[in-house]
Amino acid sequence: MSIMEWSMGFTYTDGGARRDASDEGVPGGRPRTRLIAPPLHFDRIDSTNTYLKRRAAEVRDGTVVTADHQTAGRGRMGRSWTAPPSSSLMMSALLIEPADSPLLTWGATLACVAACEAIESICGHSPRLRWPNDLILSGGKVGGVLAESTPLPGARRAVVIGVGVNCRQQAADFDETLRGIATSLALEGAAAAAPAVLRDALIERLDAWLAATRDGRDVVELRRQWRSRLADVGRPGAFLHDGSRIDGTIAGVSDEGDLLIDLSNGERRRLGAATTTRIR
Ligand code: BTN
Repeated sequence: MSIMEWSMGFTYTDGGARRDASDEGVPGGRPRTRLIAPPLHFDRIDSTNTYLKRRAAEVRDGTVVTADHQTAGRGRMGRSWTAPPSSSLMMSALLIEPADSPLLTWGATLACVAACEAIESICGHSPRLRWPNDLILSGGKVGGVLAESTPLPGARRAVVIGVGVNCRQQAADFDETLRGIATSLALEGAAAAAPAVLRDALIERLDAWLAATRDGRDVVELRRQWRSRLADVGRPGAFLHDGSRIDGTIAGVSDEGDLLIDLSNGERRRLGAATTTRIR
């Protein structure tokens, strides 16, 4: 069966992926408007984001891909994203948009808020957001969002929103570069928070926000939700921006998603996510 046949609604059994028809729908749940569930699931894949970018011209808008194990998982700024098999939620969604879609700008914002809400709904913990795309619990990074896009014929773009959330890791599962920086839902006392349960909650929240923000509706509310979760407001931060170090006090986030930093000379600077890395 070809990927095209799968994308038209058949059960897909080819190439290591499966789509379990028994997962179809949530009785009594809110009907989905855009995202297709159950997701196309891989036991092992290079990266769910890479897969959807590669296949963007063939699969349907709203396709969701999950994996137990990524062999070349990617994070922001060219970093890698690693997790032991079956330890984490690794999920990407494909949105086919006009070339000038605002989702290119706030797709990551939407995914951050949706991921926080999904975590809250399954285990009661309320993550904060560390600009631009980190999900934070008890000061540790529990997850992250990687939003990418690629051009498609016909003045369209494929927007791929990837979310990774550490669910079952224990401290020893993080390599030394991540120890003390990363955490997992299990380490925060939510051992029962399984990736599959989080996946369903995340699809529901992503779909709800996509519907709420369609045609620009409720974008102000989305930003308000994002800001209300922003970590470290009023605290010092150090950033590498276009090759220069910038130290200041975190003041907030602009409507365009830039970080606002107050410098010691009273100047307020805006730092864009594409060109900025947090050092401290
Ligand atoms: C970050 O914190 O830098 C973003 C991490 C995003 C990781 C997820 S896991 C699912 C999807 N596939 C990838 O290769 N990356 C994202």
